[in-house]
Amino acid sequence: MAMAAGATMIGALAACGGSGAGGAGAGGGGEEPQSIEDMTVGVAMPTETSERWIADGAAVESQLEEAGFEVDLQFANDDIPTQQQQIDQMITKGADILIVASIDGTALANQLKAAANQDIPIIAYDRLINGTENVDHYVTFDNYQVGVQQGTSLLRGLGVLDENGEETGEEGPFAIELFAGSPDDNNTAFFWQGAIDTLQPYLDSGVLEVASGQTEMDQVTTLRWSQETAQKRMEDLLTAHYGGGKEQLDGVLSPYDGISRGIITALQNAGYGDTIEDGLPVTSGQDAEIASVKLIDTGVQFATIFKDTRKLATQAVEAAESFAKGEDPEANDTETYDNGKKVVPAFLLESDIVVAENIEPLLVDSGYWTAEEVEAGQGD
Ligand code: GAL
Repeated sequence: MAMAAGATMIGALAACGGSGAGGAGAGGGGEEPQSIEDMTVGVAMPTETSERWIADGAAVESQLEEAGFEVDLQFANDDIPTQQQQIDQMITKGADILIVASIDGTALANQLKAAANQDIPIIAYDRLINGTENVDHYVTFDNYQVGVQQGTSLLRGLGVLDENGEETGEEGPFAIELFAGSPDDNNTAFFWQGAIDTLQPYLDSGVLEVASGQTEMDQVTTLRWSQETAQKRMEDLLTAHYGGGKEQLDGVLSPYDGISRGIITALQNAGYGDTIEDGLPVTSGQDAEIASVKLIDTGVQFATIFKDTRKLATQAVEAAESFAKGEDPEANDTETYDNGKKVVPAFLLESDIVVAENIEPLLVDSGYWTAEEVEAGQGD
């Protein structure tokens, strides 16, 4: 079997004309064809503090290994110099292909230049890497659509839209506050734009009101997607604009489950009640993290957006296999993701809104989380 797989010999650089990072990796060797079994993929993930990235790392690693690659998987603790150093080391240790989920999308140009100099193809994973020619492919979700789904789930939670996305005629006014993700993550502006385009008509008509007046993305970002930072900002907003929690806040746009949990803690501490039924404002989210899925199941968080990281991993591994064969990976979007130096060919996956009613079909039946994990609020 190993022989059969090993026989997938690759005329990597020859096939590609050795055109910089667009060419297949083969460690820059050039002439010698390489089989996947001889190739190492460096996988740079941002952090282990969020379970989503642990799951991504595990899925990418196991699927790469199944395909026959050696894997060098590193997590960078959300620290930019650590990630730079890890990628430098991957290159020194002879990585043939890189898969990178960046912390700061603009901080890796030097590393990627070094990689390109050795004809190492670079796949941006979930987050686009900006300001460099040296990113060859991008696997992600339709990030604008994720934002639309976040805005839509907030409107559903408030009862302005029904479960089919139709207007109910509910006019509010509803008091909401807005949160965005980390300003150095390219996805943040996409999520924000999708959400604000969805909410804007209702802000304009007065169905929604933002008492703080903080409706520009720059005013509402959350560095490193930090739960603590979000909790603190929510506490400050309550103190400054909602009588310390006494005046009613109805909903919060949150771009990520960790941020949602910080917001919810602040609201509960301010006396809003433990669940939405008790008066807790409705909160959106993203990533279907198990702690938040439990909160949704128990009526505490209203919704999250499910992005199946297993599918993203598959897409990244397929891209790596294509590069290994000297081919261009499949892209389904060649227009949207301009990184300031080039439009990066991307493969976009779809996402789903998860509310209490569809946890089972979307998350349990698909094997993403077991019913026991949902009940425990913890992965195995
Ligand atoms: C984004 C990612 C989201 C979420 C967030 C915080 O880049 O697209 O799904 O995970 O980072 O980790």
